[in-house]
Amino acid sequence: MLKSELRTLVRQYKRQFTQQQLCGLSLPIIDRIKPLLREAHTIVAYYSLADEVDTHRFIDELLAAGKTVYLPRVVSAEEMVLCRYTGADSLRQGAYGIMEPIGEPMPADESIDVILVPGMAFDAQGHRLGRGKGYYDRFLGSLSQPCPQLIGVCFDFQKVEIVPTEPCDVSVDVVI
Ligand SMILES: Nc1ncnc2c1ncn2[C@@H]1O[C@H](COP(=O)(O)OP(=O)(O)OP(=O)(O)O)[C@@H](O)[C@H]1O
Ligand SMILES: [Mg+2]
Repeated sequence: MLKSELRTLVRQYKRQFTQQQLCGLSLPIIDRIKPLLREAHTIVAYYSLADEVDTHRFIDELLAAGKTVYLPRVVSAEEMVLCRYTGADSLRQGAYGIMEPIGEPMPADESIDVILVPGMAFDAQGHRLGRGKGYYDRFLGSLSQPCPQLIGVCFDFQKVEIVPTEPCDVSVDVVI
């Protein structure tokens, strides 16, 4: 199956659920992530769109628990950078309708423990299909060693047998 075909298929799956149903389906997934972040100090998350596993409340919980949280901000047609999340009132709508922090960019010497990576589909080997712009592949590919733990986050219906990949696709360590 082509990447584009798999994206179309996953979009069809998603349309079978209301946004409220997707929010409900998100809760057990977030509960599965929580124990994996217990030891983490610095976490890169994503601020979910309506059709993604809902992270909004969870991100505030991480902040309240004393974690340092960064979110992506799209700065060009190719690049996203990370900016510190300090609360929902510091978010502004950015490219693709995604809410982005207006806070400080992540310092170059910051050490990230965990990255929550959204995806359109994942397979059991951690292969990931994104939305097709390559933002995450470029960002994850640019990370220096030691690499943070990469956790792929998706609804169960987004877990597929085989995700088609190319050499520049970055895989995740675990799919939740
Ligand atoms: N490290 C990279 N350097 C240069 N181009 C890249 C890199 N990674 C991906 N690309 C390019 O980006 C485009 C989109 O890649 P791909 O279809 O894998 O996106 P995706 O993984 O679905 O999206 P995203 O990463 O934004 O979630 C492709 O043309 C691919 O060649
Ligand atoms: Mg890719």
